[in-house]
Amino acid sequence: MRFSMSWRVLSLSLLLVGGAAFAADGAPKAAPAAAAHAAQQRPGHAAIASANFHATEAGLEVLAKGGNAFDAAVAVAATLSVVEPESSGIGGGFMAVLHRAKDGRNVFIDARETAPAAVNPKDYLNPDGSPNRDTALKGPLSAGIPGEPAGLVLIAKRYGRLSLQQSLAPAIRIARDGFEPDARLRGAIASMQKDLARWPASAAKYLPNGKPPAEGATWRDPDQARTLELIAAHGDDGFYRGETAQKLVAAVRAAGGNWTLADLANYRAKERTPISVDYRGYKIITAPPPSSGGVAIAEILNILSGYDLTKMDQATRVHYIVEAMRRAFRDHNDYLGDPDFVKMPLDMLLSPYYAAGLRQGILHDKATPSSMLPRAEAPEPGMHTTHFSIIDADGNMAAVTSTVNYTMGSSFVAAGTGVLLNDEMDDFALVPNKPNVYGLLGSAANAPKGGKRMLSSMSPSIVIGADRTAVIGSPGGSTIITQVLEGILHFIDGESAQQIAAHKRFHHQYLPDVVNVEEGTFDAATSDALTKMGYTLKPRESWGFMNVVTWDRKANKLDAASDPRRPSGLGKVQ
Ligand code: DON
Repeated sequence: MRFSMSWRVLSLSLLLVGGAAFAADGAPKAAPAAAAHAAQQRPGHAAIASANFHATEAGLEVLAKGGNAFDAAVAVAATLSVVEPESSGIGGGFMAVLHRAKDGRNVFIDARETAPAAVNPKDYLNPDGSPNRDTALKGPLSAGIPGEPAGLVLIAKRYGRLSLQQSLAPAIRIARDGFEPDARLRGAIASMQKDLARWPASAAKYLPNGKPPAEGATWRDPDQARTLELIAAHGDDGFYRGETAQKLVAAVRAAGGNWTLADLANYRAKERTPISVDYRGYKIITAPPPSSGGVAIAEILNILSGYDLTKMDQATRVHYIVEAMRRAFRDHNDYLGDPDFVKMPLDMLLSPYYAAGLRQGILHDKATPSSMLPRAEAPEPGMHTTHFSIIDADGNMAAVTSTVNYTMGSSFVAAGTGVLLNDEMDDFALVPNKPNVYGLLGSAANAPKGGKRMLSSMSPSIVIGADRTAVIGSPGGSTIITQVLEGILHFIDGESAQQIAAHKRFHHQYLPDVVNVEEGTFDAATSDALTKMGYTLKPRESWGFMNVVTWDRKANKLDAASDPRRPSGLGKVQ
């Protein structure tokens, strides 16, 4: 049964009578003492966890040169663009939560891609009106205007200590001198070989001699090195104007895309107020729209705050968490989009009164069927996005999730730039209420429009308690939200960075109405109990890769862990 929107809004406004406990940006009115506390302390050493050891080492190198966590974030992101192009890069976008120690400022950096002005929804339909999954996911029509270069320039200029030349130096060096592609990159190229072969510049870059690079081969990326050098020398203008912009637009248009020089020149990375939510004495600082992640995490935590999860058996705990996930994802589909284009009822969605209303509808022993929207079945996505976490010696923190969307993005490299373009346009609701590659549905709030940012699930987060702090995030399409949520819960339960990164995971996203489960998450008794409550459990293989750093402020001990599902990752304290 589906509640009509007006019923929901009406009942929720009734629930809201009595005053809102949250400010307009979702921040609780009274910040816990813990947050102020964290700002006064300094660890004296630093920690970085990322999905690739070259990138972690690049961040540590920049710290050793006198950089702070924000310079290190620029170095890590740019290096990932070179060594982990299947997941993120300067042809894509990122979202970051930064914490500046000297004044305790928390800020969200929105370097999400935008739709080009000439976006045309018909380009994503077949002649018979069915969704065209090829234009949505491959080639230049699938690519949004990249946000990553502008985001890195913004972070370096407003928050860094070093010049862009210094923080981009490791990435440029690795791109010029070469590196050995790891098994995952070689596998990603092999899995996308057919698509990469469709565009000559993609084939030239990723299929030397017509094949993916061999194990042990040294692989160089001189075109990307040059583009990074132009960004280092000219900032935004090195990418969004001049030589690089001209090459990008020429390549996209020659292959049937619709970018213009104005689309690039008009792109701006933005600072936004992060979402803050209090849960069990911890303050969670996370991503606001155009990510749905923070709203969903806050809504789930608000619902869960009415229960004592620590006193429950596993099946009951999972039951309440899944019911909270289900409700948060329903709201994702209905309400969320780019805040510059869409009015969203954030006060309502983030309110504890709203959560209390939702809690009322959860039975203690039964799953609620998600029968309000048509079922959306989607293929299991590969985990191709990347997250890294940094704490520096002064206590500055960066949680950064960066993506080109699906594996190898659009598979389209713009000739002469070394830039592999994203396929982020699929994160719009290109065809209303038809699932995207992650099975997510959307409506008008997330319809494509020139200059608009597509909704994201990226949820970089910082969790601050009285004695302990965590910087946390993960790739995983729609599962980003639930994986980060579970990471936050595990941290609050007292787990270490290593335990959090390794912890088995589960996921529910309202539709399809199944609980995705990693092997080994539930014992037989829990699986039986959940099945009896009405849940459909479905095994899922692809999870992760979470990169977490933690700071035990009492013991002044840093810890860094890279997801063990990803052998080439590295968490390191220095
Ligand atoms: O922004 C988003 O939500 C997606 N483009 C993220 C893609 C992702 O995590 C891919 N990995 N499975």
